Amino acid sequence: MQKIRVLIVGYGNIGRGVRQAIERNPDMELAGIVSRSPDRVAREVAGACPVMPVAPAEAWLQALHPDIAILCGGSKNDLPQQGPELVRVIDTVDSFDNHSRIPEYFAAMNAAATESGHVSIISTGWDPGIFSLERVLANAFLPGSRAYGFYGLTPRGGLSMGHSDALRTIEGVQDARQYTHAVPTAIERIRNGENPDYCAREMHTRECFVVLKPGADPAAVEKTIREMPGYFAPYDTTIHFVSQQELDEKYAGFPHDGCVVASGKTGDAQHAAAIEYRCVWGSNPEATAQVLVAHARAAVRLSREGRKGAFTILDIPPAYLSLHDRDELLKNWM
Ligand SMILES: NC(=O)c1ccc[n+]([C@@H]2O[C@H](COP(=O)([O-])OP(=O)(O)OC[C@H]3O[C@@H](n4cnc5c(N)ncnc54)[C@H](OP(=O)(O)O)[C@@H]3O)[C@@H](O)[C@H]2O)c1
Repeated sequence: MQKIRVLIVGYGNIGRGVRQAIERNPDMELAGIVSRSPDRVAREVAGACPVMPVAPAEAWLQALHPDIAILCGGSKNDLPQQGPELVRVIDTVDSFDNHSRIPEYFAAMNAAATESGHVSIISTGWDPGIFSLERVLANAFLPGSRAYGFYGLTPRGGLSMGHSDALRTIEGVQDARQYTHAVPTAIERIRNGENPDYCAREMHTRECFVVLKPGADPAAVEKTIREMPGYFAPYDTTIHFVSQQELDEKYAGFPHDGCVVASGKTGDAQHAAAIEYRCVWGSNPEATAQVLVAHARAAVRLSREGRKGAFTILDIPPAYLSLHDRDELLKNWM
């Protein structure tokens, strides 16, 4: 079996996860990593794989012969710029997660991929990604139902990387981690057949662990957190000021979990039905990376069929994601 040669573009948490995920997928091999900071990455990987600058693309195309690029840059600034440029030279997969801008990003990737004859699978991972698929399936199988996403079901909650980053931008904050907690009674109401119109604070609460810079005013930092639009203002938020040592010892890693829940009727008004799908991740970036690598396999299959343009998880047949061939799927997985 000829292995799929994967190029990692951008090396942060997701890039590290993709490198590990490739090792767990026997049909894949790492072609190399390209980065805007190749010296930093070369130091970190210590000769384990080739590391090259992200530009010019011709250099790594010729040297590394990748079949597919997994784009691991940030959704805010990196992917909108890098995605349309890179898909002009290679098939791509990414985890663009700015939900409100997915239509715009899809249009840009679809135009560039279609013109250049490449395949691009965008916005895959956890959410958007497998939770998007579960929402659509739940609504298709229970027409009229609404699908709700809840995050942070365990007592510890789920670490939100975006909200932790937002806390770290506040003046006077040295370091911070933010855990999201689902409101259990909100999930129960849906399980019991209701389809409520929840506002954000009725579904989740937020818990912040913040290390202050020397001399910073805790009251001012707390006020800024509570009033931060979009991130904390719409939620009931608990704030703990902790030392750097406590943060490092007790709140390291990227644990996260969540569920999609939908309820409705199957036909007869008496026949209530509910659909639930749950994920528990010891590490959110590692889990996202596994989903990205499965979609790299699907992208290569689509490309070999001569397909081109942008796709999302909603467009991918599950068999294309699987390591197993059709005979094995029919025999043991149906
Ligand atoms: N769909 C989903 O379910 C899902 C889940 C999680 C995350 N995501 C998305 O994945 C994106 C990437 O997440 P991430 O946690 O990997 O972000 P990250 O660690 O901040 O890395 C993003 C980029 O920043 C650069 N970088 C990382 N560390 C650096 C350092 N020490 N110095 C200089 N540059 C550095 C890297 O690019 P270079 O190597 O080119 O410098 C890297 O690709 C997020 O923006 C999020 O949108 C999606």
